Amino acid sequence: MSGNYLKEVRNQYEEFPYPPVNPEDEKHRLIIPFNEVFSFITHYCFAGKKDMRRNCRFLVAGGGTGDAAIGIMEQLMHGGENSEVVYVDISSASLDIAKKRARIRGFEDKIIWKQGSLLSVAEMDIGTFDYINSSGVLHHLADPAEGLKALVSVLKPDGILCLMLYAKYGRMAVYQMQESLRLVNQNTSDTQQKIENTKTILDALPETNWLIASPETILSEIQGGDAALYDLLLHSQDRAYSVPEIYDFIETQQLEIIEFFADDFTLGGSIYNPGLYIKDDNLLKQVKTLPIRNQQALAELLHSKICKHTFYAARKARPAVSFDDPDMVPYFDVSFTQGIYEKFRNLVSISEGIIPLKSNDGAELLIVKTPHLEYIAKYLDGQRTVEEICTAAQSEIGDISLVKLKAELKAVYKSLNRYRYMLLRHKNIPPYLLTGKLQERVNQLYA
Ligand SMILES: C[S@@+](CC[C@H](N)C(=O)[O-])C[C@H]1O[C@@H](n2cnc3c(N)ncnc32)[C@H](O)[C@@H]1O
Repeated sequence: MSGNYLKEVRNQYEEFPYPPVNPEDEKHRLIIPFNEVFSFITHYCFAGKKDMRRNCRFLVAGGGTGDAAIGIMEQLMHGGENSEVVYVDISSASLDIAKKRARIRGFEDKIIWKQGSLLSVAEMDIGTFDYINSSGVLHHLADPAEGLKALVSVLKPDGILCLMLYAKYGRMAVYQMQESLRLVNQNTSDTQQKIENTKTILDALPETNWLIASPETILSEIQGGDAALYDLLLHSQDRAYSVPEIYDFIETQQLEIIEFFADDFTLGGSIYNPGLYIKDDNLLKQVKTLPIRNQQALAELLHSKICKHTFYAARKARPAVSFDDPDMVPYFDVSFTQGIYEKFRNLVSISEGIIPLKSNDGAELLIVKTPHLEYIAKYLDGQRTVEEICTAAQSEIGDISLVKLKAELKAVYKSLNRYRYMLLRHKNIPPYLLTGKLQERVNQLYA
C-alpha cells in the first residue's frame, strides 16, 4: 500500500486511464452515464421535487477520464445556479484527460479538480454534497467499506449516493479468466507482455469457456482495446457483490437502497423483480411475501448475467414519487427526441388496441389505448400537471369523472415508467432539456 491505496491500482490507471476516450470527441458528442441524468435523479431520489440544477453540490469520486463529471457539468451549463462539481481521482493521467475534455467544452475552470484518494475526501476541505457518484471504484479498494465510510462522511444528511459495484454471478467467467491469467502471467512483470499473453489465450479459447457466453457488456470490454482488457482481466484488485452482499455493505453505514438499475437500462430496476422470471401466479405470490432484498437476490440468481449493480442509496428511504400528487407533471424522458408529444398524439389517434410507440432504441412500449386517451393525449405536453391535463380533457368530453380520466393517464404513465420512459417532476421545476439538445451548446463553439 502506498498511502491509502494500492500502488498497483494507481499505476494501472496512470498507464491505462479509464474509460479510454479521445478528448477531441467532445466537439461532436456528449456522454452522460444514464444514472447521472438529472431527470432520473429528481424522479427516483427526490420524489420529483428537487431541481438538480439549483443549489446542488456534486462529488465524483474516482472520476476516471471524466464521463460523470463532464455529463453533470454539461447539464449544469443549461440553467445551473449556485451548483458545484468536484472531481477526485488518484490517477493524474485520468485527471489530465478529464480536464482536457472539460477545457474543450469550455468549462474546465468551473469544476474543482483534486488528485488524491477518495479515502481522504474528508481532509480535502471540499465541503459536503447533495449527490456523490462513485462508479466502478470502491470494489478496487483494499477495504471497500473504508471507502464507503469516507464518502458518507461528506454526504449531506439528505444526500444521495450513486454507486456502481461489480455483480458477482454475471462476472463469474471474468474471475475464472483472471485466475487463469494469473497462472499464465506468473513469471511476467511486463504489462505489455501480460496483455499479449492475454490476447493469445483469448484468440484460442475453447468453445466450452464460460467467457464466450458472456453478456454484451463484457464482450465489448474484451473488444475495447488494451485499457479495457487490462481493467477487465488483469486488474490487481477487483471484487464483486451479490445483492445480499450489497445490502450488507451499505448497511455498514446505515444506508438504504433507493433504486437499482442494471446494465440493461431499458429494463432498468425491473430486472431485479422476480416477477420478470416467475410466470406462475401462486408461486410468485409466495415469493412476493419475502423481504425485498431476498426477492432481488432471487432475481439476480435467476437472471444470472447481471454484470454491474448500479444503485442510488441514502441515509433513509425517501417517500417515492407519486402520480397521485396533483402538482406532478408527467413527461417523456429526456432521451426521447423532439416531437415525441406530437408523435404520441398522432399514434393515439390512428391506432386501435395497442399504441405502436417505440423507444429511441426500438423497444415496444405496450401502451393500451383506453376510451378517452385521445383527449388526454391532446394535453399531455410535458408542461401540464396530471390535474391540468385531466381537467382540460374533461371539459372537452363533458360527462366524465376526473377520477376515470386520471386512471387512464396513470395506466399510460405506468406502462411507460416501467421502462423509465415517463417520469414525474413537480410543476415548480422547469423542464430539463432533452439530452440530444445539450451538445448543441458545444457544437456552436466549434461551428
Ligand atoms: C474503473 S475506473 C472508473 C472511472 C469512472 N468512475 C467511470 O465509471 O468511468 C476506476 C477509477 O477509480 C480511480 N481510483 C481507484 N482507487 C481510487 C482511490 N482510492 N481514490 C480515488 N480514485 C481511485 C482510478 O484511478 C480510476 O480512475
